[in-house]
Amino acid sequence: MRLHHNQSSYDRFLWTTLQYKPGLLPTTHHNPLCHTRSEGMNHPGHPDVLLSDCKVGAGLPESGGQNLPTTRSGTKLKYLYYCPMKFTQPILPYAPDALSPVISPMTIDYHYGKHEKAYIDNLNRLIEDTPYEDMPLERIIIESDGVLFNNASQAWNHIFYFFQFQPQGQKAPGGKLMEQIEKQFGSFEELQKKMEEAGAGVFGSGWVWLANNVNGELEIIKASNAENPLTRGLNPILVFDVWEHAYYLDYQNRRPEYLKKLWDIVDWSVIESRYPF
Ligand SMILES: [Fe+2]
Repeated sequence: MRLHHNQSSYDRFLWTTLQYKPGLLPTTHHNPLCHTRSEGMNHPGHPDVLLSDCKVGAGLPESGGQNLPTTRSGTKLKYLYYCPMKFTQPILPYAPDALSPVISPMTIDYHYGKHEKAYIDNLNRLIEDTPYEDMPLERIIIESDGVLFNNASQAWNHIFYFFQFQPQGQKAPGGKLMEQIEKQFGSFEELQKKMEEAGAGVFGSGWVWLANNVNGELEIIKASNAENPLTRGLNPILVFDVWEHAYYLDYQNRRPEYLKKLWDIVDWSVIESRYPF
């Protein structure tokens, strides 16, 4: 199986479940940056281009559309569709100090720059020359266990976490998602309270998730370590990291305060886009 992604899916989001219908596994991952490690191999979407001529991130927004390879017949490619083998860490869609004071630049530096990077590096090392190498990340999460599951899921979970924030984002849910929240929880405030309680109640390291089932019903899930609702056939839409590395530099042991502050930076337009109803 070949992995593909397209430009427009990146523009909206990455690695999310946007592209799949409830109850179905995603068929593509949306890792925005491509790695080209294969020497002498032709690009599968463009047989007259050598993969070794393709640059990481070519044609994607960060590159300003630059670095696209030219075919042997002299045609400059408009897009690069093939995303071979390796996962690379996407650039955050905001400056390192943009989420301050809720999340400090130092926490971004350690949490995204070091912890998340290590999960992705480990993932790439673990899948090399295995059947997992050609799989979308979501499928690796569902089909693996042990150390591979831990690193694959943590790689996914952190992208999902960091890309749901924007300092000037939409401050409350709307549309179908808000209707469902009011139907099940009574109010947005009650959902927030329940999420905070669940996050405070996770023993040790983990996550608190908001996910939907195939009928669109919402569930708050307390998860340990790297656990991800995808493994339960649910569609995650919001997540709070309650590993100490997520908050200790800024809040020390005050996890409830950290959870309450996170609402200030959640961009509900992103969460709505993850809710496929
Ligand atoms: Fe984390």
